[in-house]
Amino acid sequence: MKRQEALSIFNEYVLSEQLLKHTLAVEAGMRGYAKKFEEDVEKWSVTALLHDLDYEKYPEEHPKKGVEILQERGLSPDIIEAVKGHADYMNTPRESLMAKALYASDELASFIVACALVRPSKSFEDLKYKSVKKKIKDKAFAKGVDREILKKGAEELGLSLEEHIGNMIEFLRIREQELQSADQSLL
Ligand SMILES: [Fe+2]
Repeated sequence: MKRQEALSIFNEYVLSEQLLKHTLAVEAGMRGYAKKFEEDVEKWSVTALLHDLDYEKYPEEHPKKGVEILQERGLSPDIIEAVKGHADYMNTPRESLMAKALYASDELASFIVACALVRPSKSFEDLKYKSVKKKIKDKAFAKGVDREILKKGAEELGLSLEEHIGNMIEFLRIREQELQSADQSLL
């Protein structure tokens, strides 16, 4: 499946601008890591675009309902395994690098976007690891983001949290530039 097709499926289920932005931010992380690890960028992109497909319509059944939809649509088993694996309560081991990258990108992408939005520049351009680290320690900031998941995500990828954050800032910055030239934004 191509990115565009995944995006059309996403658009069938999701109206929320916020969920679209979250999804595109996770996709930015996935594209960045796919390139870094010399994996299939298109496939990793599709996985990111579909991982929260059911979140708006079926929040109680997320991601089980999404998995069903993806099965019906004939998505490949590795994509489905990664989608299952991104939710800890599904108890699906994250075996593939793609599944690990999805888990690691999911919470951190939104967290870094939140960090960028509170900067005077409201951008990724001058966002540094240090300020993200500070925000991680600030328990009142982006309370919904479980700090343990951020750590676990980096660990599973075999990276320090510092490296992972540095990579993600860079991936989001690059993707934001690409999206802006198409009149879109992660912010
Ligand atoms: Fe997500």
